[in-house]
Amino acid sequence: MKTTGGTDDQKRRAAERAAELVSSGATVGLGTGSTAAFAIRALGRAVADGADVRGVATSFASRELAREVGIPLVSLDEVSTVDVAIDGADQLDADLNLIKGGGAAHAREKIVDAMADRFVVVADPSKVTETLDRTVPLEVLPDARTAVAARVETLGGEATLRRADRKDGPVVTDNGNLVLDCAFGAVADPASLATDLSATPGVVEHGLFVGVADEAYVGTDDGVDVRR
Ligand code: 5RP
Repeated sequence: MKTTGGTDDQKRRAAERAAELVSSGATVGLGTGSTAAFAIRALGRAVADGADVRGVATSFASRELAREVGIPLVSLDEVSTVDVAIDGADQLDADLNLIKGGGAAHAREKIVDAMADRFVVVADPSKVTETLDRTVPLEVLPDARTAVAARVETLGGEATLRRADRKDGPVVTDNGNLVLDCAFGAVADPASLATDLSATPGVVEHGLFVGVADEAYVGTDDGVDVRR
């Protein structure tokens, strides 16, 4: 089956290899999205086989899946360290800069992924790019959306409110905020744009992950390409 550019087999290969990194006794960051879901399912099987791991969910969806597959959970505010985080990405470049937030979960994802001793991105080849050029999701306080959109324009971008459906209301994040998907074209300097977005009042978190990932496991048709 082919979804969002990559195949499920490619995603599964990457995610299952990453799940093998988790040793018994570990606290694991559970990412969000279809690729991370394969890792959560693999960890659930490890728990069923006796592995002693506890998960920190990055979203309502990953928490629900972890519960379904039997991974014991601990809440984010109860932990100060995470041993390994396994999370997907919407795009990644050769320096392991990422765009995340396709699932509107990037605020919690960034906290969990950044606090992990080892953050492993799991992806299929369609996510790999020379230059990041997808829209950058911003989680924004609802009342700040017009001000943030204006600031995005001065930074050379165009902000679009994310809607669940064209006719429906806006997507609301797990934190009760809105998402602006911001088109900047090719992002020549991700670190600089990340700094500008972080400094914008009303932005809770942006989807540029610069210097956060330690390695990427990219599932191919016959193996896993490990990038560091
Ligand atoms: C959610 C994310 C996801 O990790 C990202 O959208 C990739 O998802 P998928 O593995 O389904 O392509 O950032 O906020």
